[in-house]
Amino acid sequence: MKSAKIVGLGKYLPPKILTNEDLEKIVDTSDQWITERTGIKNRHIVEKGVPVSQLGFYAAEQALQRAGIKAKDLDLIIFATITPDMPFPSASCILQDKLGAKNAACFDLSAACSGFVYGLTTAWNFLRTGMYKNVLVIGAEVLSAFTDWHDRSTCVLFADGGGAAVLVPTDNEREGVLSSYLGANGSDAHLLNLPAGGSACPASAETVARGDHYIKMKGNELFRIAVRAMVKAAKESLKGAGLESDDVDLLIPHQANIRIIDAVTKRLGLTGDRVFINIEKYGNMSAACSIVALCEAWEQDRIKKGDIVVIDTFGGGLVWGANVIKWA
Ligand code: ACO
Repeated sequence: MKSAKIVGLGKYLPPKILTNEDLEKIVDTSDQWITERTGIKNRHIVEKGVPVSQLGFYAAEQALQRAGIKAKDLDLIIFATITPDMPFPSASCILQDKLGAKNAACFDLSAACSGFVYGLTTAWNFLRTGMYKNVLVIGAEVLSAFTDWHDRSTCVLFADGGGAAVLVPTDNEREGVLSSYLGANGSDAHLLNLPAGGSACPASAETVARGDHYIKMKGNELFRIAVRAMVKAAKESLKGAGLESDDVDLLIPHQANIRIIDAVTKRLGLTGDRVFINIEKYGNMSAACSIVALCEAWEQDRIKKGDIVVIDTFGGGLVWGANVIKWA
């Protein structure tokens, strides 16, 4: 069996920055509370009406250019997002049109903050079976459109952004994506959801009045589950690759909370220099977090050829997962 490797990375953060001080003017919060409890200082937010496909487009253009691959040569676009432009058509079809990737099959993937890991795993399997040659995976979100700006327990956390990765097959099974571990527990779905706007609860004047089109989260209950799930995902994916924590050169954890990242890092026995953290600049961008962090780590020369990189995520669903990559 072949494997698959990443040959191009891209990212896009909308120019408008919302600081903790800005939020102090909107809700009853403080820079001190947000910094100490979450690690977030700034987040990027789109201008009203900018759709997620546009963030995916900018990130994809950069990734394709860095990969030296033309949009028309893409066979598949997987768009990981929980904030598509609209219920249908998919954000991936809209992106296909923007890119001119007319030979690509397209679908969206809904796995919240684990969207990029689920997408990367899906791309890996399409490539190693030989079905496709050039696959684009996007992780992008416009969470600001679904954030209740009166709810201090969520509005300080979420943000917008997008990242992209171009993958191709490799005959060397010991390079590129080495393993994947995916998990889910729908029984805890109520801890993090967006209740209205789907077929269970279609949009109405009542759903709007109740604020049911905004993200609802029981943060403190999720905290403990997130730590346990991310530790398990990292360990299982390392086991799948025949590796251990000691072999990890860089951990790319989901950037939901600095205290979750610290707890996961400690339980995996990793030192701080082997963990990539950018939560202070961007906040929680759900599916965009891990791909933006991977791209930024690569841009900062934190990843070299031969390095073992672990991407480790957790999010609403609940869904969690990790990939081990030997950088090629
Ligand atoms: N400013 C000031 N005070 C606040 C704020 C705020 N922004 N938000 C909450 N508080 C208050 C609460 O009202 C509460 O006050 P009380 O004790 O008087 O009742 C107090 O702070 C503690 O609230 P908690 O919710 O217990 O705070 P906690 O320390 O748990 O931090 C947080 C909250 C940051 C949400 C944390 O629980 C967390 O990060 N959870 C995990 C989130 C996660 O991983 N989600 C999954 C991924 S996201 C996705 O899939 C889209």
